[in-house]
Amino acid sequence: MSGSSATPGYQLPWVEKYRPRYLRDMVGNAATVERLKAIEENGNCPHLLVSGLPGIGKTTSVHCLAHALLGDAYKEAVLELNASDDRGIDVVRNKIKVFAQKKVSLPPGRHKIIILDEADSMTPGAQQALRRTMEIYASTTRFCFACNQSNKIIEPIQSRCAILRFGRITDEELLRRLVQICEAEKVQYSDEGLAAIVFTAEGDMRQAINNLQSTWTGMGYVSPDNVFKVCDQPHPLIIQEILTRCHTGDVDGALDKLDDVWSLGYSSLDIVTTLFRVVKTMDTLPEPVKLDFIREIGWTHMRTLEGVGTLLQLSGLVARLAKLSMPPSAFAW
Ligand SMILES: Nc1ncnc2c1ncn2[C@@H]1O[C@H](COP(=O)(O)OP(=O)(O)OP(=O)(O)O)[C@@H](O)[C@H]1O
Ligand SMILES: [Mg+2]
Repeated sequence: MSGSSATPGYQLPWVEKYRPRYLRDMVGNAATVERLKAIEENGNCPHLLVSGLPGIGKTTSVHCLAHALLGDAYKEAVLELNASDDRGIDVVRNKIKVFAQKKVSLPPGRHKIIILDEADSMTPGAQQALRRTMEIYASTTRFCFACNQSNKIIEPIQSRCAILRFGRITDEELLRRLVQICEAEKVQYSDEGLAAIVFTAEGDMRQAINNLQSTWTGMGYVSPDNVFKVCDQPHPLIIQEILTRCHTGDVDGALDKLDDVWSLGYSSLDIVTTLFRVVKTMDTLPEPVKLDFIREIGWTHMRTLEGVGTLLQLSGLVARLAKLSMPPSAFAW
C-alpha cells in the first residue's frame, strides 16, 4: 500500500495520501482493472472511456496506467484537462491539437496520452471537434476520457473508444481498505464503527476514507455514534426502530420516532434514503413486507425529489407502512 505513517504537523488528506500509484494497488472492480493491466503489459493503449459513479477510482486508474506506460516521460507526454480547465471548442482546436502535434521521444510502441477527466461536462460542440483529431493523430496520441455518465459523451466518441465501466466497491473491499488505513495511521476503532463508515459510504471509496479521517480527527475514536454524528446522517438504529414499529402496527410510536429524527434537523431526503438503505438490510422483516415497504418508500422518494419534502409527507409514508402491516380486519369499524 502506498503512503507512509502520519507525519506530525502537516497532514495530507488521506484520500490523496492513499491514492493508489500502481494498478495492482487498486481495490475492487477486478475485471476492469485486469483489462487495464493487460493494456499496461501490451503497451498499446487504445482510446479509453472510463465511466462510473464518483469516488471509485476512475481518475486514479487512468493516471496509474499513464504512469506505468510512460514512466519518466509522463511529464512531457501526458496532457491532463479536467472540468476546472476551459475545454471549449477553442481549447480543442488549439491546446489539444498543438499537444497532439508536439514531438516527444518515447520508448518504441508508446504513445502520448491526453487525459480528459470529467469529460461529461464537455460541451457537445467540443466533443464533436475531437472526432477527426482523434483519428488524425491516432498514430502518436491516445485519448483517455473519464466520466460519471457515459451517455453525456457523444456516440461517435464512444464508438472510437474501448469502454470500461467501474461499479461500486463492495462492502468487504471497502472494509479491507479502511482496516489497512487504520493500521497505517494507528486509528482506534471498533468493528461496528468501521461498519458504520461502510454503511454511510455506499460503495464510494473517497467518501469512506474522508469519513474515516473526519471521525478520527474530530472524535478521536471510530464508533458508530461518532461516525453518524460526523457524517450528519440519521442513525440507522432510530430508522430501524421506526420500521419495526410500523411493522408491529404501532403507528403512534413510529410517528414519535419520526418526530425525533425530524427535530434533529435532517432533511426528508436524508430520512427517506436512510429508510431505504435500512429496510434492505433488515432481516427481521419477512420478504413480502420488505417488498411492500420498498415500494412505498420509493414513491415517497419520488415525491420528495419533486419538491414535497415536508414532515406531513413522511408521516403519510409512516402511516401507509403501518397500514400495510395490519390485518384487513383492523379496518372494519
Ligand atoms: N479502487 C480504489 N482503490 C483504492 N482507492 C480508491 C479507489 N477508488 C477511489 N479510491 C480513493 O478515492 C480517491 C478518489 O478516487 P478517484 O479520484 O479515482 O475517483 P473518481 O472515480 O475519479 O471520482 P470522480 O467521478 O468524482 O472524479 C483516491 O484518491 C483514492 O484515495
Ligand atoms: Mg475523477
